[in-house]
Amino acid sequence: MNTPVYVHGGGQTVFGELYSHGLLELFALALDEALGEAELSRGDVQAIYCANMLGAVLGGYNHLSVQLRHYLGVDCPVFTVSQACASGGVAVHLARQGVQSGAYDTVVVLGGEKMTDQEPSVVTQALMGATSVEEQLGGLSLPQLYGLMAQEYLDVYGLPATVLDYGPLLGHRQSVGNPLAQFQQVVRPETVRESAVVSSPLRLFHCSPITDGASALVLRRAESAVRVVDSVLGYAPPALADRQNRLRLGAVEQAAEQLTVRPSECTVLELHDCFSIAQILAVEALGLAAAGAGHEVLREAYERPDDQRVINRDGGLKANGHPVGATGVRQLVTAYRALRSGPRGQNALTQNLGGTGGSCVIHTLNRC
Ligand code: COA
Repeated sequence: MNTPVYVHGGGQTVFGELYSHGLLELFALALDEALGEAELSRGDVQAIYCANMLGAVLGGYNHLSVQLRHYLGVDCPVFTVSQACASGGVAVHLARQGVQSGAYDTVVVLGGEKMTDQEPSVVTQALMGATSVEEQLGGLSLPQLYGLMAQEYLDVYGLPATVLDYGPLLGHRQSVGNPLAQFQQVVRPETVRESAVVSSPLRLFHCSPITDGASALVLRRAESAVRVVDSVLGYAPPALADRQNRLRLGAVEQAAEQLTVRPSECTVLELHDCFSIAQILAVEALGLAAAGAGHEVLREAYERPDDQRVINRDGGLKANGHPVGATGVRQLVTAYRALRSGPRGQNALTQNLGGTGGSCVIHTLNRC
C-alpha cells in the first residue's frame, strides 16, 4: 500500500527558557494545539510518535513513551524516536510510514525537549552524544566540531568570517514579531560580528541556543490542503575524521538524491541552522549553490528578501530556538502553515540534520 498522507494540523509551544513547564506538559500543550487545528480529540489518535533526544539523560525519562502515554491519558501506542537533532524528522518519517502502510488513519508526531533546567556544561556534555564516541573521548563539543568545519570552509575558499553572519541575521530578522520565538529582538550586523567567540571562528550569534519547547503535527490518510510528498533519509559517518570531505554534508546529499520535488522548486525552505556553517553547507548539499557559494544564497535572502523563496520563515533554529527533539517537527509545522494559506501548487522543503551531519531527514510538502 502507498496511501497518500496529508497534514491536518500543527502545534508549537513558546520556545525559550520555560522553567515553569515540565517536558510532559510541553508535549501536551503542543498536542492539544495541533488536534484543535485538525478538529480532532485525543481519542481520535491511533498512534503517537514522540521525538526526544535528552529526556533520559537530563530528566529521568528512560521510559518516555509509557510515561507520556499515562500523562496524556491516551489508549493508543506511543513510540519514542531518538536520533539526536534529527529525532523530529525521523519521527515524522516513521509516522508517515504508519499511515502510508495502512496501519493507521490518524497519527500525531510530537517533538520536545527540556534543556534549560540543567547547567550549560551538563547540556553541552549531553549534546555531545550526537557525535562519535571517539570525538566525545577527545572532549570535542558540537560548537568545537562545527568551529573546525567553519574554519576549514573559510580557509579552503579564502573567505572572510563575515560570510558566517548572513544566516543568523536572516533568522533573527524573521523571528521579530514571532511570539513563539526564543529571540524576538532586532539584531544588527555589528551585534553578530562583535558577539563573544564560542569556538573560533564561531561566535555566540553563529550558534543556535539552548531551548525548551515542543511541537506537534497531525498526519492523516484523509485529504487536506497539504500533502507530504517526499520523506527521505541520508547517512554519513558520525565522526568528521571519517569523512572524505568535511565540507560536504554527505547525508544531506544522499537524502536530496531521492527527492521527487527538487529543492529549487520549493518556495518555502526550512534549513537546519544549528550553527551558521551547517546552514551554508546544507544550501550547497541541496544543490542550491556551488561548493563555496552557499553563503551567497543566505546573503541574497537577507539583503534582498522576496516571496519566491523564503528561508527559515519563523527564525529557524537560530532565532526561533532549538529544543533538539522538537526541531524536525517544528520545521514541518512552519512549512505546513506557510503552504496552507498560499496558492495551490506551491512546495515546501524541510531539512533536519543529526549531529555534525551523521544523518539527515528531508521532507517536501505540496499545497494541493
Ligand atoms: N544566540 C544569541 N544569544 C544567545 C545565545 C545564542 N545562541 N545563547 C544565549 N544567548 C544570550 C542569552 O539570552 C543571554 O543574554 P542576556 O545576558 O541578555 O540574558 C546571554 O546570551 C548569555 O546566555 P547563556 O545562557 O549564559 O549563554 P551560554 O554562554 O551559556 O551559551 C552557547 C551560549 C552558544 C554556548 C549555547 O547556547 C550553546 O551551547 N549552543 C549550542 C547548542 C547546541 O549545540 N545544540 C545542538 C546543535 S547540533
